[in-house]
Amino acid sequence: MGAHVLIFPLPLQGPINCMLKLAELLCLHQIKVTFIITQHIHRRLLHSSHAQPHSTKYGDSFRFNPIPDGLPHDHPRTVFEFSELMTSLGAAAPPILHQMLISTDDHSPTCVVADGLLTFATDIAAQARVPLLYFDTISPSAIWTYMCLPKLIQAGDLPFKDDNQDEYIRNAPELEGIMRHRDLPSFCRGAIDFTDPQVDLVLKQVHHMPLSQGLIFNTFQRLDAPVLAQIRNLCPNIYAIGPLHALLLKNRTSCYINSTSIYQEDRSCISWLDNQPARSVLYVSIGSLCVMTKENFFEVLHGTVNSGSRFLWVRRPGSVAGLDPVEIPNELSRATEERGCTVSWAPQQEVLAHPAVGGFLTHSGWNSTLESLVAGIPMICWPHYVDQQVNSRFVGEVWKVGLDMKDSCDRVVVEKMVREVMEVRKDEFLERAKEMSEAAEASVGEGGSSAADLDRLIDDIKNMKL
Ligand code: UDX
Repeated sequence: MGAHVLIFPLPLQGPINCMLKLAELLCLHQIKVTFIITQHIHRRLLHSSHAQPHSTKYGDSFRFNPIPDGLPHDHPRTVFEFSELMTSLGAAAPPILHQMLISTDDHSPTCVVADGLLTFATDIAAQARVPLLYFDTISPSAIWTYMCLPKLIQAGDLPFKDDNQDEYIRNAPELEGIMRHRDLPSFCRGAIDFTDPQVDLVLKQVHHMPLSQGLIFNTFQRLDAPVLAQIRNLCPNIYAIGPLHALLLKNRTSCYINSTSIYQEDRSCISWLDNQPARSVLYVSIGSLCVMTKENFFEVLHGTVNSGSRFLWVRRPGSVAGLDPVEIPNELSRATEERGCTVSWAPQQEVLAHPAVGGFLTHSGWNSTLESLVAGIPMICWPHYVDQQVNSRFVGEVWKVGLDMKDSCDRVVVEKMVREVMEVRKDEFLERAKEMSEAAEASVGEGGSSAADLDRLIDDIKNMKL
């Protein structure tokens, strides 16, 4: 009997995107996948893609296994209730996972691939004697930062004694000389609150990662070799198989899993882009979870309009707290009509690959960052929380494919940065972004590091024993 993998992502858009891509890659290599997903997310996936539960071209090789997340049906499940969701899932999921691992009715699982934050999987997989791989779908630089936190706390560097956010951190190899206090995950600002569920989750994750049989990352060697080498000192078996969406494109001949999006895409922006000059459009999106204040929304909109650039703006429902569209001043609405386009959810990879797009104002979520790198599009980073603070620093300071707007949301700064990226330093940024895009493509092509790590992962899964 062939290999069978249980994949268990966090019930959020970013991780689901990654894990479905991994699932498809495994199916393409004759590995059976059971995809554990909360009923809530499953309903949303079906609704957004109008797909049937098993409408993939893999037949028996792939199936969703929807489970309850333990929250009431009408719970909002927004980013503000993330800790509540994690607590509830942490209580509801373990008995179900345990049952699935010991069940003999079905083709027994060869291995579990779980999100790094689902730390309950460690004990359950060990009890069932099934090998476990953690897939950390955020950036390795953010994970390495998390791994350094206990050391920083022990050395007395954290919490910071003064409030100088521009001071560089110490006692963290590969981050010293790069990361300032303000570039650490947002929960490190001020006094670290160890009773904060987010801090607890992250520290637990750091403790559990080395207990698995290996770690999977959505990155490539050329991008993250130094931090991967550091992580390898704690967890020797690492598979760097990113950018996953580019690797998948290299491996498949047609789309197999209908849609990975939990929102309904509005494709009208593609025909709008078709009518814009090359590299003239700034794409603005803050991903699937972030919520901006009304004040910040107006600062970014004013700055973008004042820059004179054309723009495509994703205004996801709920992404601007309390905004009533009638509050948008006439001159901004006029500018949007004349040289802008607004949609509630865009086909982002296609947008970034469109020749009319020349820059991306992003919240620096890891998927968006990788998608921009692959497309060769320079970024203006406006990080909101957690790993995004780290990603934006690496974009601006290490990879030099954009500017980091960290901690400022002011129309004058936005205007200046948009002009820098779209006009003043356009060629320099596009050139640098092109180099990164070529490096990403090389890593997923024949003989590339990510392609080789995927082959090794597949071989290991097929031969895995605890
Ligand atoms: C979350 C966290 O917020 C982020 O910090 C972490 O790095 C990953 O998990 P999210 O905020 O949704 O993710 O951001 P991101 O990782 O960028 O993922 C968003 C995904 O939604 C991307 O794959 C993007 O292509 C897609 N998207 C976004 C669309 O398809 N259309 C849109 O209009 C906007």
